[in-house]
Amino acid sequence: MDDSPNRLPPLLAALRAAARAAGFIMSSEDRTGSLLATLAASRPGGRILELGTGFGEGTAWLLSGMDRAADLITVELDPAVQGVGRQLLGADPRVSFVSGDGGAWLEEYDGGPFDLVFADTWPGKFTHLERALELVAPGGIYLIDDLLPQPGRPKDHEASVHDLLAGLDRREDFRCVRLAWSSGLLMAVRTL
Ligand SMILES: C[S@@+](CC[C@H](N)C(=O)[O-])C[C@H]1O[C@@H](n2cnc3c(N)ncnc32)[C@H](O)[C@@H]1O
Repeated sequence: MDDSPNRLPPLLAALRAAARAAGFIMSSEDRTGSLLATLAASRPGGRILELGTGFGEGTAWLLSGMDRAADLITVELDPAVQGVGRQLLGADPRVSFVSGDGGAWLEEYDGGPFDLVFADTWPGKFTHLERALELVAPGGIYLIDDLLPQPGRPKDHEASVHDLLAGLDRREDFRCVRLAWSSGLLMAVRTL
């Protein structure tokens, strides 16, 4: 089975070219992007949160799956990195770009819960995990990636991933599935 996606978001090529030109290598790969789009499509009118915008490739995938009534907040620490996504995707009224630390944003956010949380940076994953999970609506999805070992990661990264996955699997309020596919993902659905 060829599992490469056959439908790519219209602006993905431009975002990818900008990321490559800047030497940014942390963008989600296409299979993860395709999963993001599919999960977003499963939530008509859904409220979606992305932590770590990067160059906006994940954002473009999410937008490509969302219907017109859905909305997306995406948070990024580095305004220069987020600038390209803001410029190319910012005209879409469904997306709000937030520039700042994801941990501070999670602590300060006082709005409603989300149907899909894509935690693609430290806060919401290795820090502020409880807060990110608290923001997942009943039946909502929490998704993380980059869980398989990769060269260049800090030595203790694998141990951190192991502890993170074990902690999530132990929870009674989420049902989890691990996907040893793409960069390695875990999807958790709030059941309580
Ligand atoms: C894996 S990349 C995001 C990729 C993007 N979600 C995608 O799908 O293409 C992680 C991003 O998190 C950002 N970041 C790092 N620390 C952060 C923090 N404390 N708060 C928000 N963003 C942070 C980095 O600048 C980087 O752009």
